Amino acid sequence: MSAERASEFVSAIEAIAREAGELLMGYFARRVPIEYKGDVDLVTEADRASEALIMDRIQARFPRHDVLGEEGARRETGSDYKWYVDPLDGTTNFAHGFPVFCISMGLEHKGQLIAGVVYDPARGEMFSAEKGSGAYLNQRRMQVSKTTNLPESLLATGFPSHKRHKNPNIRFYHQITLRTHGVRRAGSAALDLACVASGRFDGFWEFNLNPWDLAAGVLLVEEAGGQVTGFFGQPFRLAERDVVASNGLIHADLLREFKEIFAGRCLEPLPDPREYAKSHQP
Ligand code: IPD
Ligand code: CA
Ligand code: CA
Repeated sequence: MSAERASEFVSAIEAIAREAGELLMGYFARRVPIEYKGDVDLVTEADRASEALIMDRIQARFPRHDVLGEEGARRETGSDYKWYVDPLDGTTNFAHGFPVFCISMGLEHKGQLIAGVVYDPARGEMFSAEKGSGAYLNQRRMQVSKTTNLPESLLATGFPSHKRHKNPNIRFYHQITLRTHGVRRAGSAALDLACVASGRFDGFWEFNLNPWDLAAGVLLVEEAGGQVTGFFGQPFRLAERDVVASNGLIHADLLREFKEIFAGRCLEPLPDPREYAKSHQP
């Protein structure tokens, strides 16, 4: 690596995230109009302002680094360093006044994630990790949970805003809900991953995410002692978009369940609401 150590990157990223968090909270307090990038793909002035601020700070401090930001920020020069920036993860929550959203920034060096920060400004929670040095929540070391079996696990997932009718995740949601303590769908993939890293969730999965949703959170989970793979157990790669993250202890069981669901085996039928209504008539 260059003269700059990853820990110096982490403190720089934390400072930028804090600034962007303050900016977001200002917009959150006064509510912003919703705009649409697609069907139910929401965006607001706050997303763009946060990305502009982050881009400006990266440019000032790391002018040679490449950047890929969700709202269009691009710098592609072939640098060894590349930032993946989600200036506001959880836009739908933000736009509706539901205080579950964050800023997510991951830094890659020669194709390897070396530093990542997920900042939740509504709770003042800074999740950060440096490759090889562990993961931290507000400067205190954090670790994945110790849950060893699926039936006692609490998991999380998310649903995409594109082509929702083609996404099979509702099946996975149904099956895994029946086999665990439950599945949360809080609406911020980066925070979901941070919650796996901090032991609040035992696992998380989602289809079709983007590198800016994943880069920081994946490093957090790995550095907190967890495991991150694709749906078939293959090594995780940012470009692949589908992700399964866990505390490691339930990973094999979770992948086994997914394999069954993909194969259409052991699927519990969805209860018929008409039957339910009939049996519950007063
Ligand atoms: C979304 C959130 C959500 C996930 C979606 C993402 P955005 O990001 O992370 O939890 O389910 O797939 O697109 O649009 O709020 O930055
Ligand atoms: Ca996102
Ligand atoms: Ca976003």
